Amino acid sequence: MPKPPTFQSPTATPAAIVDALKAVAGDPPKVRASFAKGRCVRGTYVPSDRAEEITRSRSFTRPSRVLARFSVGSSHSIATNRAPLLLRGFSFRLGDAHHSSDILTQSAPVHFAKTLEQMLACLKAHIPGPDGNPDIERVKAFSAANPEAMYQASYITAHPLPRNFAGTTYWGVHSFPATNSAGETRFIKFKVAPVGANVSPAESGVMADSDKLLHDDMEHRITSGNVRFSLMALLDRPGDPTMDVTIRWPDEDDRDEVRLGTIVITGLEPDQACDASIFDPANLAEGIAHPPDEIFAARRAAYALSLAKRR
Ligand code: HEM
Repeated sequence: MPKPPTFQSPTATPAAIVDALKAVAGDPPKVRASFAKGRCVRGTYVPSDRAEEITRSRSFTRPSRVLARFSVGSSHSIATNRAPLLLRGFSFRLGDAHHSSDILTQSAPVHFAKTLEQMLACLKAHIPGPDGNPDIERVKAFSAANPEAMYQASYITAHPLPRNFAGTTYWGVHSFPATNSAGETRFIKFKVAPVGANVSPAESGVMADSDKLLHDDMEHRITSGNVRFSLMALLDRPGDPTMDVTIRWPDEDDRDEVRLGTIVITGLEPDQACDASIFDPANLAEGIAHPPDEIFAARRAAYALSLAKRR
C-alpha cells in the first residue's frame, strides 16, 4: 500500500500559521488565535431516526449532552480595503466520554485557502502595519494572484448575517467520510441549520458583528428556551471536489440532506468549561473519519499550539 500523503510544508507549518493568525489579530495575549470572542454554553443532542443511515458513530446516533461555544471570528476572515469581513463560529462536543466528537463550524461554507502555503501567504498579506491596517497594495496583489482565496469573502459579502447566533447557519466546510450501520462509506458535509429563529439579515447599519449584542441576545433566548438547531448531513455525489475547501460541491444548496439530529442549547456554562481545553477537529468517534484535505490535516496541531499560548 502506498503511504498516505502527510501534506507537510517546510514553511507553512501549524506553528507558522498560528503565529500569523495572532499577528493578523494584533497579537492579543491569552486568547484564541482565532474566534477569540465567544460564549460557552451547554445543551442536548437527540438523534433522528435516520442518523444510522448515515453514520454508525455513537456520537451522532445516541442522545447526549452537548458542550458548545458560539464565537465571533476575525482573523480567519479576509480584511478588504473597506472593512473586515467577519465570520461566526459554532463549536460543539457531543457523545459520551468514550465516543465523543468535536465539530467546528463557521458561518460560511468555504475556507479562505486551498493549501497551507496559500493560507500562510494570505494571513501574512493581511498583517497590519504600524497604522493598524494591512498594506492595501499587498492585499490586492495577493488577491489578484490567488482568486480562490476570495471565494469566502465573496460569500460573506453576498450573504449578510442575521442579528443573532440562533438564526445563523453554520457549515463544517470539509468533506467527512461517514460510515453507516451497514458498513457503507460516503462523504458528507455538516450543516447546522437554525430552527424557529429569525433568520432575516441585519438591517444595514446594524453592527451584526458586535459580540456584546450577539451574546446578550443569546442569553435572552436561552432563558426563553429558544435556541435550537438541526444538524444536517449533506450527501455527496460522484466526482465532488472533496479535497478543495475553497469551493462548494456543485448545487450544494440543492443536495439531498439527512437530519442527523437536533441540538437544543439549554444554558450558559462558565467560559472556563470551554477555555480549559480545545474543541479538537480531529476528535471524531468511529463512524466519522478525518477529511482527506491538507487544511484539515494541520488543524489539530494548530489548535494545540494556540491552547499552549493562551494558557
Ligand atoms: C474549514 C476550516 C476551519 C473552520 C471551520 C474553523 C473553525 C474554527 C472555530 C469555530 C474556532 C473556535 C473554536 C472554539 O470555539 O474554541 C476555531 C479556532 C481556531 N482555529 Fe480554526 N477553523 C478552520 C481552519 C483552521 C485552520 C486550517 C487552522 C490552522 C492551520 C485553524 C486554526 C485555528 C486556531 C489556532 C484556533 C484557536 C484554537 C484554540 O485556541 O482553542 N483553523 N476555528
